[in-house]
Amino acid sequence: RTVYVNGAYVPEEDAKISVFDRGFLFADGVYEVTSVLGGKLIDFEGHAKRLERSLSELDMPAPCTMDELLEIHRELVRANGIDEGLVYLQVTRGAADRDFAYPVDAAPSLVLFTQSKPGLAANPVAEKGISVISIEDQRWGRRDIKTVQLLYPSMGKMMAKAAGADDAWMVEDGAVTEGTSNNAYIVKGNTIVTRHLGNEILHGITRAAVLRMAQEAQMQVEERSFTLEEAATADEAFVTSASTFVMPVVSLDGAQIGTGKPGPVAARLREIYLEESL
Ligand code: PDD
Repeated sequence: RTVYVNGAYVPEEDAKISVFDRGFLFADGVYEVTSVLGGKLIDFEGHAKRLERSLSELDMPAPCTMDELLEIHRELVRANGIDEGLVYLQVTRGAADRDFAYPVDAAPSLVLFTQSKPGLAANPVAEKGISVISIEDQRWGRRDIKTVQLLYPSMGKMMAKAAGADDAWMVEDGAVTEGTSNNAYIVKGNTIVTRHLGNEILHGITRAAVLRMAQEAQMQVEERSFTLEEAATADEAFVTSASTFVMPVVSLDGAQIGTGKPGPVAARLREIYLEESL
C-alpha cells in the first residue's frame, strides 16, 4: 500500500514519523475519515471544512491548502485502486522537544493512508442491525474537535465487546451524547431525534447530510438531547458515520428496540444516502 507522509508518497514500510511527534506524545493532532464509494470521495468538502475548524480551535497550522489535500486523497485512491473504502488523514503539531506548551517553530506532520473495504455499501450488518450498550461518557469536554485522543472510545468499544454487544452509546447527565465513533439517533413515530450540536459531540459530516436528506424526504427532525429511557422505548434507533453511513441499532443494554429489527426510517435513510452518494 502507498501512504502519504509529509510531502512524499511511499510504500507503507518506508513511512517514518519522529518519536518526538506531538501526535504520538500528547495526542496533539486531529484527523478526518472520508469514505470512498465507486472510487469517489464522499463529502470531501465537509471533511475539509471540519478539519479547518479543528485546526483553528487548536491553533494548529494547516500543513497545506485544502485543494492540495483533495489532490493527495485522489492520488492515494488511485494509487491503491480503492473502489470502496476510506481515506484516513491526520495532522499533528509536529516534532519538538517534549514540552506541554505548544512549540513555536514545529512544522505540522501530515499523514494519509487508505483502507480498502469491499462491501461497505452492501454491508450485510445493515440488514441485521447492531446492538449497543450504554456507558458513561468520560471523554474530555471538546468532543467537537476531532482529535486523535481516542482511548476512551476505544475502551468503550472493548466494554461493548465484553458485554457481547457491537458498540456503546455514551451518556452524560442522563442524556445520550453519541456512539464511540458515530452519531446516535432514535425514531419516535415520524420524528427523528438526534442530539443538538455543541461541544459535547462531534459534528458529524454524515449527520449533516442525513438530516438534510431526511428533511428533503419530508421526515420530521428534532435536534435535542434524549435519555436512555426514551431510547429504550423508541420505535427505532440508528447511528451515522463516514465508515458505516446509516447503521440500524436494534438493541440497547440487552433489550430490543422496537421490533428488534432494522426499522423503516433507518432503512430508507440508508438507501437515500447511498443513492445520493453513488
Ligand atoms: N468517526 N462521533 C464520533 C465520536 C466519531 O468519531 C465520528 C466519526 C462521528 C461521525 O462523524 P462523521 O459522520 O463525520 O464520520 C461521530 C470516524 C468515522 C472514525 O473515527 O473512524
